[in-house]
Amino acid sequence: MKTARKELEKTTGENIKTGKTPVRYQEMWWTIESNLTEKNIIEKNIIEKNIIEKNIIEKNIIEKNIIEKNIIEKNIIEKNIIEKNVIEKNVIEKNVKKKDMEKKGMGKMKNMIVLENLSKNYGVKKAVDDINLTVKEGEMLSLLGVNGAGKSTTIKMLSCLTKPSGGTAKIDGRDVVKERDRVKEIVGISTQDTAIARNLTVEENLSFMAGIYLDPKAFDKKKREERVEEILRDFKLEEVRRTKSGKLSGGWQRRLSIAMAMIGNPKVLLLDEPTLGLDVLARRELWREIEKIKKNRTIILTTHYMEEAEALSDRIAIMIKGKIIMTGTLGELEEKTGQKGLENVFVSVVEGEEKHE
Ligand SMILES: Nc1ncnc2c1ncn2[C@@H]1O[C@H](COP(=O)(O)OP(=O)(O)O)[C@@H](O)[C@H]1O
Ligand SMILES: [Mg+2]
Repeated sequence: MKTARKELEKTTGENIKTGKTPVRYQEMWWTIESNLTEKNIIEKNIIEKNIIEKNIIEKNIIEKNIIEKNIIEKNIIEKNIIEKNVIEKNVIEKNVKKKDMEKKGMGKMKNMIVLENLSKNYGVKKAVDDINLTVKEGEMLSLLGVNGAGKSTTIKMLSCLTKPSGGTAKIDGRDVVKERDRVKEIVGISTQDTAIARNLTVEENLSFMAGIYLDPKAFDKKKREERVEEILRDFKLEEVRRTKSGKLSGGWQRRLSIAMAMIGNPKVLLLDEPTLGLDVLARRELWREIEKIKKNRTIILTTHYMEEAEALSDRIAIMIKGKIIMTGTLGELEEKTGQKGLENVFVSVVEGEEKHE
């Protein structure tokens, strides 16, 4: 018995005298084990809860990202729609205007600018090669072409700055060679190298032009000054009126140049690449100015920016290597070439020309 008790104490590590039996000992372990398991289960649950929570948070973040992405995409789409609407509005307005002109009868509309077989040679170089073009009163025509196409030379002949080598150009019936003074009365021009005197202030440049262009019989000194004030106001040049013109940014200089061309309130305005070299914002600003002065005025604008021609003009003439290849409204050009948008029209016309050569 003594041996058996010792054996038991040995195997269980318990003192039988304390009353603990092997059975109770086993129960004790069972309790410990089950407690342990419960603790484990709780820990497991906590870990599982954390994982679920983490998943929910991650899911929320992903959902938030998707929502944000959708909002951004929606904004982009909305912006595109607005931009498209603006372009469409312009197109619609142009169509309305075209229809108006048609209603009045295109035949009845006065031809303001008429070029017949107009040419200009520099030595053997045909800068302008036998062009024919008519611009109606109140129309804005964009003369579109790459560098060297002959745009500036055409504009210079129309404003009597250079003499044609052949053919005729008439503005409101006045011949640019035989009636130079009468042409100058009704034509305003703004070119890349317009005679802005860099050392004169904005105001002085305008006064100088007023002295040259305004008929002294109709405009005494006071009236000339009034006209300068009016132009300063119209072109929002007041804030720079005392700035030396050479110190102005490119955008302001072009605006001054157009303002100077407008001093005599010309019936016909020639704008040679008015937005060349300007940043996007300055260009848009100038477009707005041009839109404003468009009313009841005949304008030829040269540019090699397609979107400019598209946005501003009633009709477009495409010039390549001294020749006018195609003329029409954007819609007509698209129809003629089977292309959509002026850039595609232009590329197809230029490539078509190259194939002919
Ligand atoms: N004063 C000039 N002397 C010689 N060649 C000229 C002169 N002005 C223009 N040209 C040439 O005539 C062509 C047409 O020029 P221009 O009318 O300035 O084209 P655009 O204005 O379309 O860029 C170009 O090849 C150009 O080099
Ligand atoms: Mg030019």
